[in-house]
Amino acid sequence: MKRVKTGVEGIDRMLSGGIPRGFLVCVSGEPGTGKTVFCLHFAWAGIRSGEKAIYVTTEESSSSIIEQAYQFNMDFKLAVDGGMLILIDTFGRGEWTLSTLSVEDLVRKIVEAKKRLGRGEARCIIDSLSAFWLDKPAMARNYSYYIKKTLAPWKLTTLAVTQYAVTTSQAFGFGLEHVSDGIIRFMRAVRRGVLQRYVLIEKMRNTPHDLRLHRVDIVDGVGMVVTPLKEPLRREDVALPREVAERIIEAKARREAEIP
Ligand SMILES: Nc1ncnc2c1ncn2[C@@H]1O[C@H](COP(=O)(O)OP(=O)(O)O)[C@@H](O)[C@H]1O
Ligand SMILES: [Mg+2]
Repeated sequence: MKRVKTGVEGIDRMLSGGIPRGFLVCVSGEPGTGKTVFCLHFAWAGIRSGEKAIYVTTEESSSSIIEQAYQFNMDFKLAVDGGMLILIDTFGRGEWTLSTLSVEDLVRKIVEAKKRLGRGEARCIIDSLSAFWLDKPAMARNYSYYIKKTLAPWKLTTLAVTQYAVTTSQAFGFGLEHVSDGIIRFMRAVRRGVLQRYVLIEKMRNTPHDLRLHRVDIVDGVGMVVTPLKEPLRREDVALPREVAERIIEAKARREAEIP
């Protein structure tokens, strides 16, 4: 089985070497968990190994993506100018701008970009796909299936980002998860007053993957660093602080004392 490296060493290790070529993999998680940073690595790893890449950005402009990549020493501008990368956005007015957020338009543009980049294996990133069905979440599964089917003959290994609603922690239109060949889920939590990020491989077909939650760090000038958790979550991390627990017990005792 041929695998493509994701560009994040720790995640490649979790995946027994990488993502099987040709897969459609769902990248999910709440805002700020590192989905876009991971996608940048995936595109850049391809470009560095001579594979071309198509990056669709719906949440940010192309220039914002270039700027973010540059902070991790990835020169997306150079890749665009060198014909290795096509950035498709929804902000601009140029040739590579989607005029509507329709799934048909998206697929048509990706195929057009693939033809322009030429023959051979390439990588495709859709960041995010949920943007295409925010107003019709019930269509998520149908659309995901359509995208998978139409892109299948085009020699693409694809990452599709799906967002989680902060309020419910549910994906917008749970559908891509069913259709995709894999699910990489990014998470976050505040531990002792510090934002921590985590990643979990929830699914990867044809792969003996790691089942453990890993820690994610995003480092200026470097990018995403993924390492196994040093210790399993301790009781203090998940339990209530002792004073709070004691106060709850006291209050309960007081209430019970009131009962004649
Ligand atoms: N140059 C940088 N150095 C360190 N951390 C950064 C840098 N740029 C971005 N980050 C971190 O990455 C986060 C954004 O991650 P991103 O992948 O865009 O999240 P999302 O899951 O919403 O796509 C920021 O909130 C910040 O914590
Ligand atoms: Mg993002």
